[in-house]
Amino acid sequence: MKKHLKTIFAFAMAATMMFAAVGCGSPSEPASDEQNVQSTEGESEGEDGTEAEAPTESGDTLVMATNAEFPPYEFYEGGDVVGIDVEIARAVAESMGKELHVEDMAFDSIIPALLSGKADIGAAGMTVTEDRKASVDFTDTYVKASQVIIVKADNTEITGADSVEGKVIGVQLGTTGDLYASDVTDTVERYNKGFEAVQALSQGKIDAVIIDDQVAKALAADNADVKVLDEPFTEEEYAIAVKKDNTELVEQINAALTELKESGKLQEIVDKYITAE
Ligand code: ARG
Repeated sequence: MKKHLKTIFAFAMAATMMFAAVGCGSPSEPASDEQNVQSTEGESEGEDGTEAEAPTESGDTLVMATNAEFPPYEFYEGGDVVGIDVEIARAVAESMGKELHVEDMAFDSIIPALLSGKADIGAAGMTVTEDRKASVDFTDTYVKASQVIIVKADNTEITGADSVEGKVIGVQLGTTGDLYASDVTDTVERYNKGFEAVQALSQGKIDAVIIDDQVAKALAADNADVKVLDEPFTEEEYAIAVKKDNTELVEQINAALTELKESGKLQEIVDKYITAE
């Protein structure tokens, strides 16, 4: 199973890096749906031969790439992107004397945005994986998470990892849920938003959804037709991603994260969005 996942991820990463090298505006690219990009002001940079602008460390803003379809970590409240990751990133930026700027984009555009210098940090409930480490560096982890299965509330057939094998499984494109689902079935339905997968489930179009635990809870809370199975499918950890070899930035973020953990501020942020059961 591990082997299979690795192969897929290595392939995905290679593809990602190729697109990043070609430039994000390439018309023939398949996966990344740039329609979801909230702010596209960086799109044409570099086209006239000028250097792609590095929004980064020298400036007084820290640009965070995220995919705001992931409550409680990042989601829209009115016109603003809020959530655990946003608050953590803002606190990190503050400790660096910078202002946080959030760029919402497709999840699979986040790593390319880091590689091209469009963003300084990727904060998106992003699971640390060996394969991602091949293209980006990760800070210390700040949250433990797991993938879980969501099924229809009246489903008695799918009760855990074993019984989901071979089923029609919905996932958010390019996530670890996508990889794990691909490992247990040939019929994976990929959605741009986890919310769309849950909607398809409640409409009976698919059998199950595999997605991160807290997100599953948040999405299921709004939908009486579905239930989250208790048994975790995988254990994971989230960290902030940065462009490779940016040691100084990683160190600054780690120092800020340590401080946030020690002061209890990180837990405070988590508790604000996740009520303990
Ligand atoms: N933890 C999963 C991953 O790293 C899902 C993250 C999705 N995040 C998001 N903001 N949509 O693949």
